[in-house]
Amino acid sequence: MTDLRAFRTTILLAVALGCGSKDTDTASDTVDGDADTDTDSDADTDSDTDADSDADTDSDTDADTDADTDLAHSGHTGTTTTASNCVNPQPIADSRGQWSGLVRCADGAVNRATQRSCDPAPPPWSACSQTFGSCSVDADCTAGPNGRCLDVYFGCGCVYSCATDTDCGANEVCLCGGAMPTVTDSWSHCVPANCATDADCASGECGVAVQTDGIGCPNYALVGCRTPTDLCREDGDCVGADQFCTIRPVVFDWRCRTVPPLACGRPLLVDEVPVHAVTTARGDWSTPLGETTEDPELAERWLRIAEMEHASVASFARATLELMALGAPPDLLVETQRAAVDEVEHARLAWGLARRYGAPECGPGPLPLDGAAPRRDRDAIVRGLVWEACVGETVAAAELREGARLAADPALAATLRRIADDEERHAALGWRTLAWLLRDATTQELAAVERELEAAVGELLAGPPETLHRPEHGFVGGVARDRLRARVVERVVRAGWRAIAKT
Ligand SMILES: [Fe+2]
Ligand SMILES: [Fe+2]
Repeated sequence: MTDLRAFRTTILLAVALGCGSKDTDTASDTVDGDADTDTDSDADTDSDTDADSDADTDSDTDADTDADTDLAHSGHTGTTTTASNCVNPQPIADSRGQWSGLVRCADGAVNRATQRSCDPAPPPWSACSQTFGSCSVDADCTAGPNGRCLDVYFGCGCVYSCATDTDCGANEVCLCGGAMPTVTDSWSHCVPANCATDADCASGECGVAVQTDGIGCPNYALVGCRTPTDLCREDGDCVGADQFCTIRPVVFDWRCRTVPPLACGRPLLVDEVPVHAVTTARGDWSTPLGETTEDPELAERWLRIAEMEHASVASFARATLELMALGAPPDLLVETQRAAVDEVEHARLAWGLARRYGAPECGPGPLPLDGAAPRRDRDAIVRGLVWEACVGETVAAAELREGARLAADPALAATLRRIADDEERHAALGWRTLAWLLRDATTQELAAVERELEAAVGELLAGPPETLHRPEHGFVGGVARDRLRARVVERVVRAGWRAIAKT
């Protein structure tokens, strides 16, 4: 069982230690497909990609390059396909005005019909000019083809562009720059995939999903087979402006997701989608926190965090009922109830911070609870705990601790420290609860939970970049946030799991 003090020490160490190695444990389904590659020189290239990343390429001079003909070729052979649900597919051009290999269906869904060669030009960013980061010169970037050391959001970082899928890893494809209108990155880069083209999928559709933070900031794309059990095809299938239809890394299923804000409490997930009340004008939910300093960006962020903290109250209330249904010991019930009370105060503090940064005095509207009844299925409860607590709250606690350390204003730092103290306790509670739930688990059951944990970790690490980087106000973004997450995953999340699984 995870000891609370040991856990908190571990999480502090993970935050304090230097940058760890980049996590590369992204096990996923194998891409094993045949891709027709039409080059710009009017040559068709047939590439066979197998799990070992071996690629045989042979070219002939088939003089057809127009999109319609290529679309006809995208039917492929060798894989059993059913009638595609993509009606009237239209080719999508890349940044050069040439067909990217992607098509847009009549319902807005985007699929990768075939592979086309992409422009391997690097992104239009400056060469490395900063004194910190993961590289200094291009020669430092040797992890893949076309490596460049550029000024990224925070320091210098290696950027790898691609021309074809053979420039990418075994479970990746090359997405042509400019092909997805919502992708602000204009350069061709490798993205995770479990299919290369439509021919690889039994549904006849190899879909492309783009994750966006909702304010037009850089996105992250995934490519995966559509299946009959998908819950959405495109963003229009999802409810709410902050929801989008995307693919979960590792498991590659299609779900509506909401971008979680930084440092929220335990989310209230309904069918794996976080739900929360909408902020409304009222005067009884914001803790006064000193003189107002107008800052719309920070005010907006704290409003979103407040909504998530408020939803955490319900998340812990539901968890209490679920634990009671499973016969939990009294100490877990006491701590779960106490955590719900903590989250009330976190919500009040967050609305107070929003007000401090210039938002009007406000609080929560009604919380939608449709579908939020206590789960009765033990496996569903374990899955929820893994996503909400063992990964979500654990990492959020570390980000809060780092924000508290960096905040310039002592009063703000004290407020963040207080929330971080609670969140670390909540995360430790999550791990203790998981240990209790799995006390008699079989090897197979433990393996299933580990897969779920890795799915949650994969989504966390592959999520959209955090563009809000204002450490003096307690927000850590960009590469610094990504590195922090990678450290916490390796040194706390995976270490916590090994302690439970005794591996
Ligand atoms: Fe919280
Ligand atoms: Fe919490």
